[in-house]
Amino acid sequence: MSAVARARRWLAARVAASVAAQRARAALAGAALVLPLVLPLLMGAPAQAQAQPQALPAAAAARVAACAACHGADGHAPLPGVPHLAGQPRLFLENRLVMIREGLSVVPSMKGLLDGLADEDLIALARHYAALPLRPERPARDAARAARGLAVSQRAACGGCHLADYRGQEQVPRLSGQREDYLVQSLRDFAAGRTGGRDTAMTNALIGLSDADFLDLAHHLATVAASR
Ligand code: HEC
Ligand code: HEC
Repeated sequence: MSAVARARRWLAARVAASVAAQRARAALAGAALVLPLVLPLLMGAPAQAQAQPQALPAAAAARVAACAACHGADGHAPLPGVPHLAGQPRLFLENRLVMIREGLSVVPSMKGLLDGLADEDLIALARHYAALPLRPERPARDAARAARGLAVSQRAACGGCHLADYRGQEQVPRLSGQREDYLVQSLRDFAAGRTGGRDTAMTNALIGLSDADFLDLAHHLATVAASR
């Protein structure tokens, strides 16, 4: 099977698994009406498992120091144009790592860095960064720009996928507290179609928005308080 077919099949399986997990959670939420005392116990186990940073497999552990040079040891990128990874949804990170490893998403500065890592290593790296708390240094909030950004976000329904507080979910990334420069660059890349292997739902969400809108959106998103 070609690398592309393998990544597509892997992604499809992940999406199916996350839909199943979402259904299971919905079923649990339904059970909460009947079993209000049992639910916290049921929910406690997976929530805790996700929050605990776990030891990385050897191959991933050997690579993580290289990641830190750009994304920070604590998942906070010190460099312009590099995204924070801390607190991103695990599934989003897994998908990005697979797409980058397979060369479907081209990140020149990461060329070769994921070569030879197995799916299990990428899953472990995703779990590692997802479990790190996001506590970014936020730029000073310019109220007028942020208000314009909020208005654009509401008009374009960004929260429909990224959630109302932009913390992200499943395959959809967190935007709140992300680096402002990275957000601007990312929006420009999506709008210009420079995002090989990325979700086309995003490109469609930006139809009709201007570069000024991107700057206001990025300012609003980078400075809005994250909920966790
Ligand atoms: C030389 C700098 C550099 C190094 C080292 C590096 N990255 Fe990256 N990484 C980037 C840049 C730049 C981007 C943004 C690319 C883009 O969106 O065009 C990125 C994007 C990502 C993304 C996608 C995040 C998002 O929000 O879209 C993930 C996940 C990631 N890197 C993980 C890693 C891991 C894991 C390692 C170590 C194995 C690593 N990176 C090493 C520069 C680096
Ligand atoms: C239909 C659902 C949907 C809507 C609506 C949507 N997004 Fe997204 N967005 C996504 C998905 C899915 C991704 C991940 C794409 C990928 O990695 O291939 C994404 C990725 C992004 C990224 C890249 C972040 C990163 O860390 O790499 C940015 C920035 C972004 N969206 C901003 C926005 C903004 C701003 C809006 C509103 C104008 C918006 N999105 C509306 C689904 C959506």
